Amino acid sequence: MNRKRCLVTGGAGFIGSHLAERLLDLGHEVAIVDNFYREALCDRPKLPGPLPLIKGSTADKQLMDAIIPEFDVVFHLAAILGVKTTMTRPVEMIEANVEGTRNVLAAAYRSGCKVVFASSSEVYGKGTPPFAEENDRVYGATAKLRWIYAVAKTLEETLCLGYGDKGLPVTILRYFNIYGPRAKEGPYAGVIPRFIRAALAGNDLLVYGDGTQTRCFTYVSDAVEATARAVDPKADQEILNVGSAHQTSIGALAVLVKRLTGSSSRIVNVPFEQVYSFGFEEIPNRFPDMRKTKRILDFSARIGLEEGLARTIDWYRARGGERG
Ligand SMILES: NC(=O)c1ccc[n+]([C@@H]2O[C@H](COP(=O)([O-])OP(=O)(O)OC[C@H]3O[C@@H](n4cnc5c(N)ncnc54)[C@H](O)[C@@H]3O)[C@@H](O)[C@H]2O)c1
Repeated sequence: MNRKRCLVTGGAGFIGSHLAERLLDLGHEVAIVDNFYREALCDRPKLPGPLPLIKGSTADKQLMDAIIPEFDVVFHLAAILGVKTTMTRPVEMIEANVEGTRNVLAAAYRSGCKVVFASSSEVYGKGTPPFAEENDRVYGATAKLRWIYAVAKTLEETLCLGYGDKGLPVTILRYFNIYGPRAKEGPYAGVIPRFIRAALAGNDLLVYGDGTQTRCFTYVSDAVEATARAVDPKADQEILNVGSAHQTSIGALAVLVKRLTGSSSRIVNVPFEQVYSFGFEEIPNRFPDMRKTKRILDFSARIGLEEGLARTIDWYRARGGERG
């Protein structure tokens, strides 16, 4: 793409910081806006280079109206995320994320700026994979807060499509389990960072349930490549999956992390009921149908799990096993 002025919301976060680096490498002008919500919750990833940084929230309508007209593309990644976080802060999550997305879309619509929106494979809920973009969404009962992250992302996707109908160029990307350096971790999210840190520290690798549940872990450089390509007008008004086509069970992942780190940690299965509070439902298998993304963006994930894990382990090792 030609040199563009790019704004990355959530640019101090995991995917946003990698995206900002990649956009700079591609020769674009890049600025980021972030309210450091994630830092308040856990850690702060290293910011890529000397970038213009606007400290503020997407939920601040005046701020969005003021800054977005300065850009050609907004990569809208800012969000309070994670199923567990959103279960414990549902009102805060819905208000901040949905209002933030509405503000970004409205300001972009007025100024004629393209929007690339970060959605999630969570949107598919407990439907039957492979998940294609046109599949039905299947969620549990409203009272089960486990589904609200998916519901909020669905609402935000619907806002994107609505502004798209009015003429805003917008692309929705559904990310599938992205991992790599700077990924967020916690007891309920980020199984890869959790396993790596445990393995490097010689602690038990806790596999929730029997470990047969599968995911398609996608290395961050692949996710970022697809995101940068989504600026292409061919992707306007489209919903596209972004993920690896390779499924791995959580049990097999634990074995692989143990081998790649040379760790003597034990792998221990823990019943779901011990880990999650009421209302949680695990999704047994989740994998994308990548045909549409291949056709429109000519994108397929390139980094295999073993290579991506090795890179991530090196990153942790360089920081003495800490998040950095
Ligand atoms: N990591 C994944 O596997 C994954 C999977 C599916 C979807 N996503 C989506 O991708 C996006 C980025 O996720 P990530 O893993 O990089 O998360 P992250 O928590 O590392 O990054 C999110 C960033 O947004 C910032 N933020 C939160 N609310 C904000 C607000 N209102 N205004 C400004 N900044 C705000 C946070 O401080 C953080 O720096 C999110 O929209 C997320 O829902 C991620």
